[in-house]
Amino acid sequence: MRVILCENYEELSLQASKIVASQLILKPESILGLATGSTPIGLYENLVKMNEMGEIDFSKATTFNLDEYYPIKKSNSQSYDYFMNKHLFSKVNINKSKTHIPNGEAIDPVKECEDYELLIKQHGGIDLQILGIGQNGHIGFNEPDFNLNSVTHLTNLTESTIEANSRFFESREEIPTKALTMGISTILKSKKIILLASGASKSKVVGELLNSEINTNIPATMLKVHPDVILICDRDAYSGVRLGVDIGGTNVKFAVVEGNTVKFKTQTKTEKESFEKLIKTISQQCIDIISQYKIKTVGIGTPGIISNGKVKATNVPFDNVDLAKAFKKYIDLPITVDNDANCAALGEAQLGVGSQYDNIVMITLGTGIGGGIITHKHICDGKTSNGEIGHMIINAVDGIPCPCGQKGCWEQYASVSALIRQATNAALENKNSTLYSIYEENSNQLNGELIFEAIDAGCPVANQVFSTYLDYLAVGIKSIIKILSPEAIVLAGAITLQNDKIITPLRERLKDYDVDILISTLQNDAGALGAAML
Ligand code: GLP
Repeated sequence: MRVILCENYEELSLQASKIVASQLILKPESILGLATGSTPIGLYENLVKMNEMGEIDFSKATTFNLDEYYPIKKSNSQSYDYFMNKHLFSKVNINKSKTHIPNGEAIDPVKECEDYELLIKQHGGIDLQILGIGQNGHIGFNEPDFNLNSVTHLTNLTESTIEANSRFFESREEIPTKALTMGISTILKSKKIILLASGASKSKVVGELLNSEINTNIPATMLKVHPDVILICDRDAYSGVRLGVDIGGTNVKFAVVEGNTVKFKTQTKTEKESFEKLIKTISQQCIDIISQYKIKTVGIGTPGIISNGKVKATNVPFDNVDLAKAFKKYIDLPITVDNDANCAALGEAQLGVGSQYDNIVMITLGTGIGGGIITHKHICDGKTSNGEIGHMIINAVDGIPCPCGQKGCWEQYASVSALIRQATNAALENKNSTLYSIYEENSNQLNGELIFEAIDAGCPVANQVFSTYLDYLAVGIKSIIKILSPEAIVLAGAITLQNDKIITPLRERLKDYDVDILISTLQNDAGALGAAML
């Protein structure tokens, strides 16, 4: 299922109308599957305008509507027959005899359904089906059930649908409790499908649709078996209020995001005693936040490698565990899990300094080098979670051994630990240098800040070490640029708080490359914010 994420309802209606218009232009005699409900009204308005301007022609098109209440008079202002005439048929040059809607006045509804199904078949099937989605995941009037009827049929409406439709009727008694609807297989036989979802009332179901396996409780998930479905939704329907959790070796961070706005942030200590205890404490915190902020989806960023949905990490007790399943025991919401560095990159790409770009690579400089690759605003995932750029080999001849088992990994040369190691060696080799004095004054130890203290004091040894470090850093970034061609590289980690001292000489080393070199604006919050955006 492809997703077109629109800023608002107007853009959603425009995108949908472009697809319908292209269909009619390419094949004027198209068989269109039409939907009712409030969502496609903007689409129909656009189609009416395009038809008025002579951009599209309905005269050769045939239409089949998805559904109709049963029983209902065509003249009833709430019938779908009435709706279609009001919003489309009476306003475009369509041949009324080529429009079809299940007959809510039929005496024999079962026969009406059989005939309707046959008629679609006789027309060679639907070329482009437009769908809305009910808050419970229904499409057409295919309601959640143990067993879904595949062809056009008479169905009972669920309480939640009757409730959702009550806004259109004056009294509850008037709301039909049955309907005639195309079945799931009728819909799936369409050559192309567009599914429209707008507004916050749809965010829960859109989250469930995108995050759930195919199941009859959310009928729209059936669309996942179709090769050409586009979900067109606006930001309110797509996001709702999201909770992001970033599980780290020391702290667990939580962030609540609505649209692009950060609503709340907090953190707790990581409870590393046992897997169960850690999941339980994080879940309890989540449940509090969920009830307070009416959260619709939860994203989890975890350290370690994710393979086939199982997480294996070293600094938290995750030994091939299915994190999403473990959290589902406590949290009844769609849950998505990804690697923490990927989450940080996504956070930066959607909410931070990377938000103006489509393709970025985030590089986190710390004990090692972490990375996340964002292509077209999405995490670029491989067979397992990828982006392990710190383990790109930059020295094949006499490379420094890396705990990962390889030799010559980039992080052995360009991480902050590597810088400290290089500076310590240089200090010991130059005992008359300022760097060495600082080393001695600090119990024979250096850290990032002390190295910059020596640089600020004009120590040539410290300067030389840092210059070589920057060369190593630049070498790796050059390879990343050559392979991925990102628009921007975003650097994060405490060392980047040195700002100009690192960014200016780095940009100088990369001046022949067409890429923006930036410093993360979200820094330590990027992981939790990105998890929220998963
Ligand atoms: C009705 C229709 C569906 C439609 C749904 C959502 O149940 N049978 O086809 O998708 O309403 O309507 P709305 O777009 O008003 O939310």
